[in-house]
Amino acid sequence: MFLVNPFYSSWEIICFKTKTITPSVLWRLWSRNFHKGSGDVLQQINRKGTSNNQVTKKHKKERSACQAVLDCFDQQYGEELGELWASTRAVLLDPQSWQYGVMLNRFSAVTDITQILQSRGFSALLHDAALLCNGPSEVSDSKHHKGTLLAPHYISEFPPDDSHPQPDSSSYALRQDSLPEPLLGSPRPLLQCYIHPRPLRFPSQPHRPGRLKQYYLLNAASLLPVLALQVRDGEKVLDLCSAPGGKALAIMQSAAPALLCCNEPDPHRRDWLAKTLESYLPHSLNSRVMVSAQDGRFFGQNEADFYDKVLVDAPCSNDRSWLYCGNNHQGEQRLKERAKLPALQAQLLRSALSAVRPGGVVVYSTCTLSSFENHAVVDAVLRDFPEAEPEDLRDEIAVPLSKHFAFSFHPGHGQTPRNPSPRPHKSAVSSYRDRLGVLVVPQPGRTWGPMFLSRIRRRK
Ligand SMILES: C[S@@+](CC[C@H](N)C(=O)[O-])C[C@H]1O[C@@H](n2cnc3c(N)ncnc32)[C@H](O)[C@@H]1O
Repeated sequence: MFLVNPFYSSWEIICFKTKTITPSVLWRLWSRNFHKGSGDVLQQINRKGTSNNQVTKKHKKERSACQAVLDCFDQQYGEELGELWASTRAVLLDPQSWQYGVMLNRFSAVTDITQILQSRGFSALLHDAALLCNGPSEVSDSKHHKGTLLAPHYISEFPPDDSHPQPDSSSYALRQDSLPEPLLGSPRPLLQCYIHPRPLRFPSQPHRPGRLKQYYLLNAASLLPVLALQVRDGEKVLDLCSAPGGKALAIMQSAAPALLCCNEPDPHRRDWLAKTLESYLPHSLNSRVMVSAQDGRFFGQNEADFYDKVLVDAPCSNDRSWLYCGNNHQGEQRLKERAKLPALQAQLLRSALSAVRPGGVVVYSTCTLSSFENHAVVDAVLRDFPEAEPEDLRDEIAVPLSKHFAFSFHPGHGQTPRNPSPRPHKSAVSSYRDRLGVLVVPQPGRTWGPMFLSRIRRRK
């Protein structure tokens, strides 16, 4: 009934191939049999084989932007963003200026890494913004735990953890430096991410046998959809489009959900996702974090009204990576497929709105500037869902974080050129378009993004 991928010996990968065994059914079984351990509930029916994936060392090459993609962006974003596009374009075309955030892993020992980061001029992103996902934490869970750390070399060859092309296949042994269980939920967790004012890159952490990784490198704008989701302890959460798992990890840093279902239909990317979870989360969370393999478009049908929160981090144009796709031919292929994305995104968002319970929240996000995949998708879906309403994220996200991120509001064709809002004002009354979502636009000095996020509450 379920498939357990033997490659991940310490993290069971459950592929829900049937409609009768869904994540919610399995989670209920697990909850009832918790004292017995998940192994009693699961049937391991596929024990042979190990992955052939090998660690592929990518030789860093100077890459130039794909002209077909750039031409397309020039035309579309020039129209949509107006004057703002020139400075955004300059950032996107200069990968050396890109910044990377260092998200700490509270399940590992992080005291030493925090000290090293601070001594090198990194500072806590969410500290001054007072944007705590799940309430303030006076003391970091990990403060009392010392651990070892690789010597950091501040070199720029390391891609962020959320841009690795494929999972590595180094063997994983039991981990020794995860925190003891009682500390996992208390005191209240805090999502900690360190950033540097300049594009200084911390190295990605190599696999450490028997140890959890201490940090995950990412575009700090990736944290915003997770902040907007506001996951609380004990909630049931669905990450509908989950691989490689950066936002799933951020969710687990910010709260202790009763269930986090990480869904990814692409098998290769699902392997990558599982590897991420295995590298960062302790075994004790196996019964609360599961991986499913469904087509997200049908999740709502199969799991109606079940989740408290759903994240739809949708497949999208991914402007940064498309600009640097291998060659012009590949770029042209992607651009051909691009027209189909808004329909898929709308289906995923509809499915999420069905999967969330009445009163629950869906966050829709993408990492493209394209209004066709952002505001237009949310707008189209809301027309079919009168019981769902968009929530204004300006006061909660854009105002407190505008020091670090450049936000732009309601871009679209035929509008006057906008400047990013360096200090967006608190909104007395917000228009419907404002509530459709906020867009993070990369700018010099604030190179995070692109990232669009929209929060929708299902009323009934
Ligand atoms: C933007 S990525 C998600 C990134 C991830 N949330 C993270 O933070 O690491 C979008 C993912 O959606 C997946 N996807 C594509 N079609 C899908 C579908 N029909 N249902 C669910 N996921 C899908 C892609 O394979 C891809 O892994």
